[in-house]
Amino acid sequence: MTELTEEIRRRLTFAIISHPDAGKTTITEKILLFGGAIHIAGAVKSGKNTRAAVSDFMAMEQERGISISSSVMGFEYGNRKINLLDTPGHADFSEDTYRGLSAVDSALMVIDSVKGVEERTRKLCEICRMRATPIITFINKLDREGKEPMEVLDEVERELATQVRPLTWPIGQGRAFKGVFNLLENNVYLFHAGEVSRPQDVVALEGSHDPRLDSLVGERLAGKLRDDLELLRGVYPPFSVEEYLAGLVSPVFFGSALNNFGVRELLDAMVSFAPWPTPKEADERTVQPDEEKFTGFIFKIHANMNPKHRDRVAFLRICSGKFERNKTYFHVRAGKPFRTANPTAFMSQDREIIDEAWPGDIIGLHDTGTFKIGDTLTEGETVNFKGIPSFSPQIFRVIVNADPLKEKQFHKGLNQLAEEGVVQIFSKPHQANVRVLGVVGQLQLEVLQYRLQHEYGASLTYRPLDYSMAHWFNSADPKLMAELIDNNTKRILVDIRGNYAFLSDSEWSFERAKSNNPAIHFYSTSEMKDRI
Ligand code: G4P
Repeated sequence: MTELTEEIRRRLTFAIISHPDAGKTTITEKILLFGGAIHIAGAVKSGKNTRAAVSDFMAMEQERGISISSSVMGFEYGNRKINLLDTPGHADFSEDTYRGLSAVDSALMVIDSVKGVEERTRKLCEICRMRATPIITFINKLDREGKEPMEVLDEVERELATQVRPLTWPIGQGRAFKGVFNLLENNVYLFHAGEVSRPQDVVALEGSHDPRLDSLVGERLAGKLRDDLELLRGVYPPFSVEEYLAGLVSPVFFGSALNNFGVRELLDAMVSFAPWPTPKEADERTVQPDEEKFTGFIFKIHANMNPKHRDRVAFLRICSGKFERNKTYFHVRAGKPFRTANPTAFMSQDREIIDEAWPGDIIGLHDTGTFKIGDTLTEGETVNFKGIPSFSPQIFRVIVNADPLKEKQFHKGLNQLAEEGVVQIFSKPHQANVRVLGVVGQLQLEVLQYRLQHEYGASLTYRPLDYSMAHWFNSADPKLMAELIDNNTKRILVDIRGNYAFLSDSEWSFERAKSNNPAIHFYSTSEMKDRI
């Protein structure tokens, strides 16, 4: 095996997806504790608590207690180098999360057993499905009286359109929660609230009919477990790693992150079968991770991470080959060479300079305005990676500069924040000076105002625009395109890449526009791939 293949097989790059409050922060913290990446419980806790969160970069997110920015946490566990991407759970920042998912090879989905499948989980799971990203499911909070496990699994299958394969099964729940039965190993993991499971808490059984089960968890729960297991065997085919890797089935684990129960087993399972860096689709071809030549793409740009230094960091996901410090690469969009002297690896806030990095790794490049989201670096080849689309904003506003003396700062700030992907900025077809802002949540409007003021000294106000969705469009017939644009000037926007988008105020009015223009192709993302 070459050094490159060895390093690839060691890598595990994933993100946690969940609805806020399902337990993502708690699980992240336990995972980092196991990985030795942090030493104190509570270090990852978000702004809800007084200790500064590891992933807090902006004063704003500390004030609000919402993890606005994504960060990357790298650590070693088992024999693998793990890169865990922290993605904002807040719906207002979903674009950032969607793009973060383009940089990972698998996802861990956390579901609250009391609430079941929730809205954010649905959307994030859909994005994973678009790319066939393998998902492992963790059903959390078993120490609380929740829904019946079978009911939660039915919900996952129905609402997330994915098949599940339970690999552990809970014994009781809420106050009666006794632990889980591991279907692959025929073990019982006994639960003790608040304690990490000790070796003596794992009891190997001769199958579920082993009489020791009754003495361990009581006759009633043992009987119920036997009935459940029989039912499970009838309902779910055996787990196949290949089907999981193809994104067709999701293995399911049960536990309680707060009580540190089931998280180590989950991590062990991930280390044993979650994928190493997968091939990445580009417009030109599919790039394999074990190609000798380096390629990578920028999926996130974060300005002013440290308020003391005005720096901008571009997050680069390495797709193939070995990345080396001080080597000159090719910046495909700019058509120019790019050389970086100080690439950094992330351990949340701590950034350290690295000399090399491998496929699956995420590194930070110091950026002075060279990069836009989606940019590719290579050793000379023209490759443009797919999967970093913009999605339709839901709130639109005309942006007005509130301080004419700060015109320059206003434009600079807007451009940089748009490149960073904080917001989408459009112009109007025949009025290039009119700028329209598109965001997915109200909070982004405030973040833009706040950052423009604090980082650029400019201020803005908004004029309402009563639309709630945008669809990108094109057509093989330029005459039809021009006609649609000219007849609907109010409803047409041009994005930063020069692509056209059509505004609607309801599904109904969009459907009408679509049926009135049968020769126009409409798309739900700026990638203009998923025709609707
Ligand atoms: P998030 O990042 O997905 O938003 O969720 P987070 O981990 O912050 O967890 C949300 C709440 O759920 C927290 O309580 C957390 O302690 C609790 N929680 C997480 N895992 C479990 C579990 O296994 N069992 C139970 N019973 N609760 C769990 P909080 O009251 O909002 O915060 P805090 O006051 O505990 O910090």
